[in-house]
Amino acid sequence: MSLFLWKAEYAIDQGTIDNEHQRLFGMARHILDLELGPDKLEEFKTIVREFYDYTATHFEHEERYMTDIHYPDLNDHKAKHKAIISEMNHYLSTDRKFSLLLSNFKSLAVKWVFDHILDEDLKIKKFLTI
Ligand SMILES: [Fe+2]
Repeated sequence: MSLFLWKAEYAIDQGTIDNEHQRLFGMARHILDLELGPDKLEEFKTIVREFYDYTATHFEHEERYMTDIHYPDLNDHKAKHKAIISEMNHYLSTDRKFSLLLSNFKSLAVKWVFDHILDEDLKIKKFLTI
């Protein structure tokens, strides 16, 4: 699906933030492509661990970037990041079934990577260009 492919128009800083967003697009696609099956559980655990850690690090970088450019909606944006991390923590601490974890992480991957980056993060770009 083209929505899940990186496009040049999504670029914000032509640097770290964009590189990390592209990597996150790749991880989200990986999660969305994963199928259920006993042989897929280890692959799922590995990608989710990577996705979680990378998300947390990326949020730190993006929040630092927003601070540096004096982005006016920093606090609101930080709260959205916090909500994403809390949602991941919630699934990881409560879901025990692979099928449930997989479907929750698929929804989260769409919501966090595609919706958040394309709706919220692109507001940063708009702020820089007006
Ligand atoms: Fe963000």
